[in-house]
Amino acid sequence: MFKWGLRKTEKPHDAVERLEGNLPRHVAIIMDGNGRWAERRGLPRFVGHRAGMKTVREIIRAAREIGIEVLTLYAFSTENWKRPREEVDFLMRLPQEYLLTDLPELIENNVRVCVLGDVNGLPRHTLEAVERAMRETAHNTGMVVNFALNYGSRAEITHAVRRIAEEVKAGRLDPADIDENRVAAALFTADLPDPDLLIRTSGELRISNFLLWQIAYTELWFTEVCWPDFTVAHFHEALRDYQSRTRRYGAVKP
Ligand code: FPP
Repeated sequence: MFKWGLRKTEKPHDAVERLEGNLPRHVAIIMDGNGRWAERRGLPRFVGHRAGMKTVREIIRAAREIGIEVLTLYAFSTENWKRPREEVDFLMRLPQEYLLTDLPELIENNVRVCVLGDVNGLPRHTLEAVERAMRETAHNTGMVVNFALNYGSRAEITHAVRRIAEEVKAGRLDPADIDENRVAAALFTADLPDPDLLIRTSGELRISNFLLWQIAYTELWFTEVCWPDFTVAHFHEALRDYQSRTRRYGAVKP
């Protein structure tokens, strides 16, 4: 199962030493499989989401130790509102619950918390928790943790197109000057490098409206493991696989 000989018992710092060189700057994760993880154990789905929050904590710590610059976690999509009311309510409490306990650790470790998505659509208590975290970590210069909340890539691109169209309408922008950089600058991720590595757990092989523009040349890594069972060893496995890849961006190998 662990292709590179990493075992669950391996101490994270041993593995960190062996991960040096050619690391992704930006890792994005579709944290899937919480519900199935719970259902397979005869438990309600929310138990899977709570277990998933513990994995979030461990992977944030591991990413920081390894030296990842940006970690983007897909925590709630624009489509997730279609879920039963109680599940949505539970998911909307998780950022608050996580930040209540972990914000001091993030601050101490110089981590900056950001949110990607339409924050205006979030319930007030969720918004207050994430805004406080963003405010209190705004000057931190270490790893950036992006929680994608009420995020959908098509909505993000639509929003960007509208912003650009308004610039044109106001006479401040010539359509001939609209290039890829201009579009990228109008996205929520304007200040971030594109993801180098995208991980999706739970065996689903799709992108689910996540960072569609930004992952044009991202390396993809899928695992059957459901998010609550995803360990630091699995994370290292993904990073090692990334390290072995050759990125050509449409060109030929030098
Ligand atoms: C997808 O699994 C997962 C989600 C919609 C929620 C992800 C949220 C967390 C992992 C916790 C977030 C924590 C913080 C601190 C923001 P699913 O429910 O679709 O699983 P299924 O496909 O098996 O039903």
